[in-house]
Amino acid sequence: MNVARWTFAGLFLALSVSIQAADPNAIYAKGGTNPAAMACATCHGAEGEGLAAAGFPRLAGLSADYMKKQLMDFASGQRANPIMQPIAAALSPEEVDAVTTMLASKPGPKVERISRAAVAEEVGAVIALRGAWERNIPECVACHGPSGVGVGKAFPPLVGQSAQYLSSQLIAWQQGTRKNDPNDLMGHIARSLTHDEIKAVSEYFANLTETGAGR
Ligand code: HEC
Ligand code: HEC
Repeated sequence: MNVARWTFAGLFLALSVSIQAADPNAIYAKGGTNPAAMACATCHGAEGEGLAAAGFPRLAGLSADYMKKQLMDFASGQRANPIMQPIAAALSPEEVDAVTTMLASKPGPKVERISRAAVAEEVGAVIALRGAWERNIPECVACHGPSGVGVGKAFPPLVGQSAQYLSSQLIAWQQGTRKNDPNDLMGHIARSLTHDEIKAVSEYFANLTETGAGR
């Protein structure tokens, strides 16, 4: 009798633990097992669309590997952020896997595709499509893809993020609070951009979506 009871209790425990670890929607909407892993939806929006006005980035449709790397970088401080650091540190590896896989499967934004050969007159478009090679600044689309839609696991989308979020990241690289990029690729580029160029190129990418995340 006792044995049966304990076996049942053990099974129940194992079952509830595995359900918790495997339920990305619960983590996203209600938070992780550790109370410090606050519900993602509060800031990143019900569908992972982000909250442009507050500078909270879109997560829907980003690569799972990219998001996993960011969560590790927040936890380690390579990407210093007082809001995300404690949240990332409180998520278990299983929770990180589950929630990033779920978010990656959500649709990204509708994007206007702009050819790399398109005419570029305004500062933002020039930096995005041509760069400023005399100052060693490559065009952003060379790594981030046409219209900044992102390429593979390493190069995140720029389109779909708000101008406020994009410029805050470029400024973080200039100031050295974000230093998680391989070979200082982005650090070097951000430090070479002027304040006006950061504003213009961020608005350029933010305005390529139908909803104009950055407007
Ligand atoms: C209290 C608000 C808040 C909550 C809750 C929150 N985040 Fe964030 N998140 C942010 C902010 C702000 C940033 C941008 C940080 C920066 O500027 O570096 C961010 C950035 C991120 C990024 C990096 C995105 C990119 O494009 O590089 C990921 C991934 C992320 N959060 C995942 C999560 C997950 C998963 C959860 C839930 C477990 C979560 N966040 C909960 C506010 C929040
Ligand atoms: C040589 C390749 C390369 C070029 C060119 C490049 N980037 Fe990046 N960028 C990266 C990589 C790699 C990352 C991701 C770093 C990491 O792992 O966090 C990144 C990340 C970013 C992010 C952060 C996105 C997020 O979701 O947090 C922004 C903003 C950004 N780049 C803007 C730009 C702009 C603007 C340009 C053009 C002036 C540009 N990049 C050109 C490689 C590049």
